Amino acid sequence: MAKPLSFTCTECGAAHAKWSGRCEACGAWNSIIEEKPLSSGPGARGLGARRGHAVALEPLADETPPPPRTECGVAELDRVLGGGLVPASATLVGGDPGIGKSTILLQAAAAFARRGLSTVYVSGEEAAAQVRMRAQRLGLGQAQVALAAETNLRDILTTLDAERPDLVVVDSIQTMWLDNVESAPGSVAQVRAAAHELTNFAKRRGSAVILVGHVTKEGQIAGPRVVEHMVDTVLYFEGERGHPFRILRAVKNRFGPADEIGVFEMTGHGLSQVANPSALFLADRGEPAPGSAVFAGIEGTRPVLCEFQALVAPAPHGMPRRSVVGWDAGRLAMVLAVLESRCGIPFSGLDVYLNVAGGLRIGEPAADLAAAAALLSAREDAALPAETVVFGEVSLSGAVRPVSQTENRLKEALKLGFCKAIVPPGSNAPASGDMALMPTADLAGLAGGVFGAG
Ligand code: TYD
Ligand code: MG
Repeated sequence: MAKPLSFTCTECGAAHAKWSGRCEACGAWNSIIEEKPLSSGPGARGLGARRGHAVALEPLADETPPPPRTECGVAELDRVLGGGLVPASATLVGGDPGIGKSTILLQAAAAFARRGLSTVYVSGEEAAAQVRMRAQRLGLGQAQVALAAETNLRDILTTLDAERPDLVVVDSIQTMWLDNVESAPGSVAQVRAAAHELTNFAKRRGSAVILVGHVTKEGQIAGPRVVEHMVDTVLYFEGERGHPFRILRAVKNRFGPADEIGVFEMTGHGLSQVANPSALFLADRGEPAPGSAVFAGIEGTRPVLCEFQALVAPAPHGMPRRSVVGWDAGRLAMVLAVLESRCGIPFSGLDVYLNVAGGLRIGEPAADLAAAAALLSAREDAALPAETVVFGEVSLSGAVRPVSQTENRLKEALKLGFCKAIVPPGSNAPASGDMALMPTADLAGLAGGVFGAG
């Protein structure tokens, strides 16, 4: 029999035969820890002589109604979930410590309870008094939420089996422990076993279960990624420190669209919903300035406008710096390389800083052209024309490619008072409204047409 693997990566959960400094599966450094192999459970002893029961097979072509949903009452959260919580489902809410996971889930639990649904909030991190204090700060002191400050999952499950609540929030999965798992709370084995038990509970009793998972920096505590595959829905709560804005992003959803975002603002009384994120992300923008370009993006089903800000400065010596916040560093390197080799506009010898304002993180390729416009504008020290939005994907040849949902992007831009758009060739202006399009076939055209460079 093969020797059991007993080293596990706390980032991705990959099993390794021996310890090493870097996980070969996900590339994370210093994330591999030794774990005791499970002494029981599937695969531990092989199937043996016992035969299983026959499983009833069903035709694929059967009709199944769409899952019933219960809106939890926080509209931005409901939208990210795809229209509300699904009974008998497990949802993971991940995010950095202190980002606001407990706050939003307490608000959601209270809103859920207000609809007359039974709600249990299990806190393994804070005492009941602390949760109560937070609730009072949020103006939810009278919410009909049942509290438990407990980390022993066996006791919690016994309680939940008796109560059968409609919603259970478990804050956080890393604090829960099972006495039949030998490793310490927070280890990959404990976190996985606890998530497994709670997901089973959700399916067995029809409750909607929400698990909180802290994104961890050091390797000893398992991160939320190790349970992503066990749950139905995975949401991440993001935001920059120092910014009040928080983005709740669906990265997996068995019952709805992934990629949807909800936008919140952290206030003194908890998280308030932001119905018009574009207005918020552009709020601090002054007069058109060199290095700034407004990107008309799509996040999930919603158009969102945001500002790309670039700064280039002579690099005194050695390797020039490339610093990027809110966008992909690889994508920045690609756009810089295309500008250099296809348009003859070098950035070598220059430090380059690129930020997406407001703490939003952009993943769409449609942002390439906006980033290029911001970079060119910074390098040429010339502002883009006023009231202009930009979008388009840039290929390695420097050509600007069309992107989806042109009309939605332009309509949102019109709504916010923009009247010009730098767009891929072949884009159509919306039928209503006054939007002047500047079709741009390639980056050389952008450099020459808008900045007279290249
Ligand atoms: P919290 O929900 O405890 O974060 P997490 O559960 O993700 O670790 O949020 C903690 C931060 O939020 C803390 O820095 C204080 C801030 N906060 C507010 O600004 N306003 C509020 O009303 C609350 C409850 C917290
Ligand atoms: Mg918390």
